Amino acid sequence: MCGIVGYVGEQSALDVVMGGLARLEYRGYDSAGVAIRNDSGDLTVVRRAGKLGNLRAALEETDPAELSGTLGIGHTRWATHGAPNDRNAHPHVDCTGAVAVVHNGTLENFTELREGLEHRGHTLSSDTDTEAVAHLIEERYDGDLADAVRSVCRELDGSFVLVVTHRDEPDVVVGARRNLPLVIGLGEGENFLASDVTAFIAHTREARVVDQDQVVVLRRDGVTVTDLDGDPVRGEQFHVDWDTAAAEKAGYEYFMLKEIDEQPEAVRETIGGRIDSHGRLRLDELAMSDEDVQGLTQVIIVGCGSAYHSGLVGKHAIERWARLPVHVEIASEFRYRDPVLDPHTLVVAISQSGETADTLEAVRHARRQRAWVLAVSNTVGSSIARESDATFYTRGGPEIAVASTKAVMTQLVAMYLVGLHLAQVRGYRDGDEVRSHFRDLSHTPDLVTEVLGRMDPVRKLAREIAGQERVLFLGRHVGYPMALEGALKLKELAYVSAEGFPAGEIKHGPIALIEKGTCVVVLAPRHALTSKLVTNVQEIRARGARTIVIATDGDESVTPHADDLIRIPDTKSLLSPLLTIVPMQILAAEFAMARGLDIDQPRNLAKSVTVE
Ligand code: AGP
Repeated sequence: MCGIVGYVGEQSALDVVMGGLARLEYRGYDSAGVAIRNDSGDLTVVRRAGKLGNLRAALEETDPAELSGTLGIGHTRWATHGAPNDRNAHPHVDCTGAVAVVHNGTLENFTELREGLEHRGHTLSSDTDTEAVAHLIEERYDGDLADAVRSVCRELDGSFVLVVTHRDEPDVVVGARRNLPLVIGLGEGENFLASDVTAFIAHTREARVVDQDQVVVLRRDGVTVTDLDGDPVRGEQFHVDWDTAAAEKAGYEYFMLKEIDEQPEAVRETIGGRIDSHGRLRLDELAMSDEDVQGLTQVIIVGCGSAYHSGLVGKHAIERWARLPVHVEIASEFRYRDPVLDPHTLVVAISQSGETADTLEAVRHARRQRAWVLAVSNTVGSSIARESDATFYTRGGPEIAVASTKAVMTQLVAMYLVGLHLAQVRGYRDGDEVRSHFRDLSHTPDLVTEVLGRMDPVRKLAREIAGQERVLFLGRHVGYPMALEGALKLKELAYVSAEGFPAGEIKHGPIALIEKGTCVVVLAPRHALTSKLVTNVQEIRARGARTIVIATDGDESVTPHADDLIRIPDTKSLLSPLLTIVPMQILAAEFAMARGLDIDQPRNLAKSVTVE
């Protein structure tokens, strides 16, 4: 997720673009850059790794005349392709420096696009997918930038928001979008493009959304929007009445609620188009040869908190599909037990921030023992990513709220993809099976959207039980890690005693906790073990528990024993954590808000625990 701004008007483009980027910095801060068409007709591009302050410093060292102009574009980056450095910072330009492009999203066919460009003599200087777009526009440009952009967009696979300028078109900024947000700010004698309204509501509150596969042409005196064939399309104009702080949260009261709703996009981006033209699943990030993968004897997954819980689901996926023994360890315990590691061990270190000290030390220990370490992180260039042998980047975009939601969701996706890749290379799943499981996984963003649309009863239930001081969570198989995750969410947001148990374990002690009215959340998605779960639910209900059951549409096996029933769509049981996790996120958030608590910044907690 990146921040994008485009401007054409009468003001200093640099001031407007930098002001907009400052409002969008929450969307990404690995690097930043601007392209300004100055008064002498040149395109000045300045870009720097790191936060916006680094770019400001570079601009102050630039000749003001080179930055004096009333047309410009800008970008704050959340890196997906290419490390966060100056070379990979946006804007990217073509061979001649006449075309400048900023981009949010992931182009799934960028490898073949780059190969084609290099074959045709273009020199690309970055590792990004975006740069290919600048060179493609260079090839297609024939005096009309909008036509060139439309032509290129018809060739792109994947998600994108593009904002483009050309040195020879002093009055035009062109934008295009697929799957990711782009909004138009409509001013008097000036117009704006941005990832969200935050960037321009200081100048205008009249806005219009750019819809799927549409191209917008921004001029001082007006805006035209077409489809990819160049045919004009109509769109709704709206007035923005948020204040700036609310706009950064896109109107949500808390970042956490916004990030919960961003989960379908985060899952879709993380899955990406990973089936190549030969029908094979691609996980090049693992950076292991097939021989090394086939020589693996064990997998160890390390993480903390939610990251640990996603690892527990990963165990099920890897063992089921790849038939490799998997041990999942709390990172802070891992190295102190002096684990048996060797070059035939794959250690997977899961960390959203990539800076968690416990996990970083586990990585260092594993490297010293010559294990192969794969980081799974949401933060490009983070310490854990840099110190691992390989990194799978989840593409969840910045997660501002302390409680992990879209991050843990995308970690689950990473676990499934690692499991399928290992199974494919080790021959335990043939191509058809891998593609079938990948298709099931690719359907989950829509299923998550479906679950999100059903959450009003969960919000009501949360407020109803918000007086509870103890809530238990039960699950079997992959439901157990999710029971732990549901308990953690409630614990960290509402400060109540919440515990997750394997459902079968309840009778070996924890059932003593049950008294009349004790709330117990039971994760009961369709599964072969559901009948066993029924027995567990009967046991606790007989002792007075209030059973809150999460069950699959149409599955009536547990529902007679549910005091409250939350329905989720059907999916393969191994993938059910992607759906069961959502009601528990909503339950915890609403429960805490009912208590008047700040769910973005829970007490005593930090987003990244960089101390042991
Ligand atoms: C989860 O909601 C918490 N924020 C916490 O458990 C978190 O998952 C843990 O601290 C690990 O953080 P990391 O993924 O950045 O390493």
